[in-house]
Amino acid sequence: MRSMEFLGSHILSIDQFERPDIEKIFSTSDHLLPYAKRERITRILQGAILSNMFFEPSTRTRISFGSAFNILGGEVRETTGIEATSLSKGESLYDTSRVLSGYSDIIVMRHHEAGSVSEFADASRVPVINGGDGDNEHPSQALLDLYTIEKELKSKNKTIDGLRIALIGDLKYGRAVHSLCKVLSLFNNVTINLVSPEKLELPFSIKESFSNSSVSFFETDDIKEGISDVDIIYMTRIQEERFSSRNESDKYKGLMSLNQEIYTKNCEPNTIIMHPLPRDSRPDANELDSDLNQNPNLAIYRQTDNGLLIRMALFSLVLGVDKKIEDSTSEIAWYSDK
Ligand code: NCD
Repeated sequence: MRSMEFLGSHILSIDQFERPDIEKIFSTSDHLLPYAKRERITRILQGAILSNMFFEPSTRTRISFGSAFNILGGEVRETTGIEATSLSKGESLYDTSRVLSGYSDIIVMRHHEAGSVSEFADASRVPVINGGDGDNEHPSQALLDLYTIEKELKSKNKTIDGLRIALIGDLKYGRAVHSLCKVLSLFNNVTINLVSPEKLELPFSIKESFSNSSVSFFETDDIKEGISDVDIIYMTRIQEERFSSRNESDKYKGLMSLNQEIYTKNCEPNTIIMHPLPRDSRPDANELDSDLNQNPNLAIYRQTDNGLLIRMALFSLVLGVDKKIEDSTSEIAWYSDK
C-alpha cells in the first residue's frame, strides 16, 4: 500500500490518506499528549509562522489550529471573515496566496467555496491545510473524529473494523460528514446508517464510492430506527449558510433531534454520541439536547480535545519535526491541572 509523504505536503482532502498514514498521524498525536496537556513544553517550531486564514465563521477549528501551533512553539497570524481582507476588494485567491505564503511557513485556510482551498494551495509557496472548503471537505475534522472513534471503541473492546455508526442530520451539505464517510471507507465491515430528511441526503458521489469499499449503508428519515443498532451516533447541524434562504433551511430544523429520553428508549446501552460542533442550541433546532450533558457517553468534548492533538500532529509531520519534539523540551513553570 502506498504511503504518503507528509513533509512539505498540502493537506486538502481526506482522500490523500491510506490506513498507514492515518496510523502515523494517530501515533504522532499520542506522542504529543503530554504537550497538549501542558505537562511539558516544546519550542520545536520556534520562529515558524502560521497564517490562520478563516474566511468563514469558526471557533474550534481556528482556535485549535492556532493553539496547536503555539504549543509547538510557533507564532500565529490570523484573519477572520472575508470582509476583513482584500478578497472583499476583489483580490483573487491566487494573489492572496502568493502574498501570504511569503509571510508564513504554513497556512490553514477555510473558505465558503468548494475547491477554493485547493486553488489557493496551487498558488502557495508553503504547505496549505484545508480548514473546510464550502460543502466539500473538512479533512482535519475527519481525522479527529476517527481518532475519537478509535479511542471510544477501544474503551469498549471494539475496533473501527466492524463499526456501526449513524450519521444524522444535514448529510447533503455537511463537509465533516463527507470527509468522515470517505475515511471510513478504508476500514472493514463498517455499517453506516444515513439518517436525514430525504432532501438532505448524502451526495450520490459519496454513496457511489462506498461500492469500492466494504461499507454497507442504509438510508432512513426516522431517527429512532437509525439509532437503534449502532455503536456511535454522529449528529450534525443543518448547514443553514449553504441554503438559498433561511426560510429554506428552517424547514429542516428540529426534524432530527436527540435527547436523553429518545436515547434511553431507542439506543443500545453505552452508545457513544458525537457531533462535530457547533450544536445549534436554539429551541427551533436543538439537534443535541443539553440534557445529555451529563451522559458519560457524550464524547463531544473529548472530540474537541482530540482536535488539538491531531492538528499538532499534522503540523509536526508536514513541517518535519515529529521526530525532534524532545530536542527542545522543558517543564512548565505555571499552575496546570489538565
Ligand atoms: C463543522 C464545519 O465547519 O464544517 N464545524 C467544525 O469545524 N467543527 C460543522 C458545522 O459547522 O456544522
